[in-house]
Amino acid sequence: MNKIDDLTPIDRELLIKKYGSLDKIKDQLESHYPIQYLIGNVNFYGYDFLCDERVLIPRFETEGLIEKTISYLKELKLENAKVLDMGTGSGCIAITLKKELPNVQVKAIDISNDALDVARLNAKNLDVSIAFELADIFKYESQDKYDLLIANPPYIAFNEEVDESIKYEPEQAIYAEDNGLIFYKHILKIAPKLLNDKSLIAMEIGYQQGSILKTYAKEYFPNAKIIISKDLALKDRYLFIINE
Ligand SMILES: C[S@@+](CC[C@H](N)C(=O)[O-])C[C@H]1O[C@@H](n2cnc3c(N)ncnc32)[C@H](O)[C@@H]1O
Repeated sequence: MNKIDDLTPIDRELLIKKYGSLDKIKDQLESHYPIQYLIGNVNFYGYDFLCDERVLIPRFETEGLIEKTISYLKELKLENAKVLDMGTGSGCIAITLKKELPNVQVKAIDISNDALDVARLNAKNLDVSIAFELADIFKYESQDKYDLLIANPPYIAFNEEVDESIKYEPEQAIYAEDNGLIFYKHILKIAPKLLNDKSLIAMEIGYQQGSILKTYAKEYFPNAKIIISKDLALKDRYLFIINE
């Protein structure tokens, strides 16, 4: 998709407006440099998010995570949820939840100061208040209890083949040890301490990770309702754990 001839008319227009001519960015387009970074922002769930090399480009699949999470929060009557977004990147999950459900109270953590700078700018531009904090998921502790833990953590195994364009995105936003599972295992381990009795865990997952994650989820939450659901391409993409 990154060659000049493959550009959509809208992207072509935005790029010409920004760079004057496509000739200036021809080399980057030919080498699969992401168009979203060249344009400098991306539309996510109807909102414009700044995005550059400091953050993962918000993905279409993650919109599905938010849509389903909102629907579960409504079912559970948790529209006022206290939310923890783990690995916030551009802030797209935290900010969109706050835009869509203004009564939620959102804390968002990331290990990257650069990512948090982008997330803070996005929150400011979209006029929402989020408590951003520099923190490592693997060392994270909190006295606070949450109603929703939400995460789209890094989940690509180091030996997995990926698209050319992914090499321009921050490595620590993409790859994870233990066949891509290490973040899920840790989040599931610490979640019982972080959550209120009635609560929800919502995570985006790799399309081949559904059944193993369902098994882990059952170990940590034997009494919960555990749901693996699919994205629009009908691939396993989301893990929901509902504690009622
Ligand atoms: C896949 S990206 C998701 C970004 C954003 N939530 C989204 O859905 O587009 C994962 C994020 O986790 C962050 N991250 C990686 N390792 C982390 C860690 N140990 N603790 C906290 N955040 C981490 C990365 O910096 C990155 O922003």
